[in-house]
Amino acid sequence: MGHSERNYEYYKEILGKQPMPFAFVDLDLLEENAKNIALRTGEKKVRIASKSIRCISILNKIFQLPFPFQGIMCYSLPEAVYLSQNGFDDILMGYPCMQEKYIEQVCGEISIGKKITLMVDCAEHVKKANEAGIKYKVIVPLCIDLDMSTSFPLLHFGVNRSPLNKKDKVLSLVEEILKFKNVRLEGLMGYEAQIAGVGDNYPAQKIKNKMVKFLKKKSIKEIAIRREEVVRGIEEKGIKLRFVNGGGTGSLESTRQEKCVTETTAGSGFYSSALFDNYSNFKHLPAAGFAIEVVRKPKENIYTCHGGGYIASGSVGNDKEPLPYLPPGLKLNQNEGAGEVQTPLISDASFSSNLRIGDPVFMRHSKAGELCERFNSLLLLSNGKILSEVKTYRGDGMCFL
Ligand SMILES: Cc1ncc(COP(=O)(O)O)c(C=O)c1O
Repeated sequence: MGHSERNYEYYKEILGKQPMPFAFVDLDLLEENAKNIALRTGEKKVRIASKSIRCISILNKIFQLPFPFQGIMCYSLPEAVYLSQNGFDDILMGYPCMQEKYIEQVCGEISIGKKITLMVDCAEHVKKANEAGIKYKVIVPLCIDLDMSTSFPLLHFGVNRSPLNKKDKVLSLVEEILKFKNVRLEGLMGYEAQIAGVGDNYPAQKIKNKMVKFLKKKSIKEIAIRREEVVRGIEEKGIKLRFVNGGGTGSLESTRQEKCVTETTAGSGFYSSALFDNYSNFKHLPAAGFAIEVVRKPKENIYTCHGGGYIASGSVGNDKEPLPYLPPGLKLNQNEGAGEVQTPLISDASFSSNLRIGDPVFMRHSKAGELCERFNSLLLLSNGKILSEVKTYRGDGMCFL
């Protein structure tokens, strides 16, 4: 059964008897998304961004698929340890962290043979990793975070993370790393957020879409040169990198073109949350959602549901609100939005459902992994049936950030 037949009746038939609210993942669509992520990445390997999954069972399912998924990019050190202790390996911590206790816990895992790589962009990060390495008598693998933002006149196109935006800055940090005995440089990562995380196909934003496309095109060229130069510079110092990581769900087509990149990262594309509907270069399928119950009908065209106010992180805007998904033809009320306890949904001219009090409305979170911070479990469906209910990180009692 294709995606288009997975309509309101399909999901209501399978899930209608479950107590609301609940979250679910359609495994058939998740698998389709995984296949397309692999296709979009071509011959490169794909590291899974766990922040956009936040569920051990789903991570396991993804790795069981016959696609070149290899390793995890995680977002917190205690998470790295939790993943390692749950059987995962080749874990890249995607962001720096200075917490001694957690770095030492990671060293504990390294000391029993696990591969966990720490992210660094300054001497302080390196020193801290080395100190823990000495204490635990291990060599801590490091990855340098190369800034991939592009500066246009009057516009910083990208994020503000690593200060290392030039080859010479990276090479000075490499020199610093070489001074220490308990760390080893093994990877380079550059996340081009302005390509991977910025949509260029928003409805009713034609001019903005055009501008973003134009800026992306220019930026893609420039960052490819930067990454290549940096990799070459590191290699000229006699260092053979184990991996060069780049990109995210939104940039797989361009990141894969870079010869020096050995692997991409992808996370959001598996659930394909609402923000990822707005890209011109791909279309993944809505594999994850949540259901809230219609509990009131204050007016003929308004269905007020219980709960639903799961707003996504990032700059504040309407695109961070959850998206009413099924039945089609419902939208949030601008004055109230998605509420802490009550969410009124307004039906528009295209609405044709016979929605009653007690019925579910299916919604999609704007961001992928954050859905799992709102629910202890995910109902997993396939082929018209609920297969199982699995715990999210939150259900495991894990709240990392
Ligand atoms: C360092 C890094 N790499 C890759 C990604 C891409 O993740 P996703 O595919 O979930 O957008 C992100 C997302 O924010 C990131 O921060």
